[in-house]
Amino acid sequence: MSTLPLLELRNVGKAYGTHRVLEGFNLAVRPGEIVSLIGPSGSGKTTALRCMNFLETYDQGEIWIDGQLLGYSGPGRTPADRDSPAQIDAVRRPLAMVFQQFNLWPHMTVRENVMAPLLLGKRLARAEAAAQADAALARVGMAAKAAAYPARLSGGQQQRVGIARALALKPRLMLLDEPTSALDPELVEEVLQVVRSLAEEGMTMVMVTHEMSFAAQISSQVVFMEAGRIVETGAPGPMFQAPATDRLRSFLAPWFNRSLVPRTEEVK
Ligand SMILES: Nc1ncnc2c1ncn2[C@@H]1O[C@H](COP(=O)(O)OP(=O)(O)O)[C@@H](O)[C@H]1O
Ligand SMILES: [Mg+2]
Repeated sequence: MSTLPLLELRNVGKAYGTHRVLEGFNLAVRPGEIVSLIGPSGSGKTTALRCMNFLETYDQGEIWIDGQLLGYSGPGRTPADRDSPAQIDAVRRPLAMVFQQFNLWPHMTVRENVMAPLLLGKRLARAEAAAQADAALARVGMAAKAAAYPARLSGGQQQRVGIARALALKPRLMLLDEPTSALDPELVEEVLQVVRSLAEEGMTMVMVTHEMSFAAQISSQVVFMEAGRIVETGAPGPMFQAPATDRLRSFLAPWFNRSLVPRTEEVK
């Protein structure tokens, strides 16, 4: 492929104290690609995603965003080697994140929540921030709730606001950490529909998800992790239809076996 990656991780590692939770992680995300990170709980998916925009520091390897090294300017990876916060912010500017638990401020209206990073991070004027927030809210079908407080919204609506807050930053790449896993089952689809529409518009995304059929439909690349390492990666067709490893096969088994067949005999 000729296009340069928008995001590239080379041999990235991360330890919490002596516990190494990410090791030898390699990934290249080109413009328009949708990468799904899958794997059992505790396998390091959230850590990998948070390292991608330096919400967590990585201590091995390199992360490149649009040709710039994230977090460090030289070869050292100790806290003393880190770039200044301003430099880090500049490098990660093309990225925006959507959180599993929405992370909305309860004391702010929906519009104020979406405006906050525009005012504080991008230092836009209020009028411009409000206009950008309203456009992003309209994009996720939440314009009518701009003046509401998060507590008055369903979980699905709150997550759509979380997506709008990321979109308002006009990112070139979005990171989504299990955007539907905190939702009641009947609210999942409205959020997946928004993510699908972003995909159709060509938004580049890296998404941690347990929604396997959704991942199978929209991903250009699937990454299966276990114990901090990539076990298997590739296009969704081969990955989901003919896993190369026993570990991925057994991880996916519940989804293959989960057809909904109601009991036919009478309950006594
Ligand atoms: N802040 C932290 N301090 C110490 N250990 C952590 C921290 N965050 C995550 N971990 C550990 O790192 C490993 C990977 O966690 P995580 O990235 O959250 O996995 P996943 O998102 O795949 O469930 C787990 O063993 C978890 O307990
Ligand atoms: Mg996680």
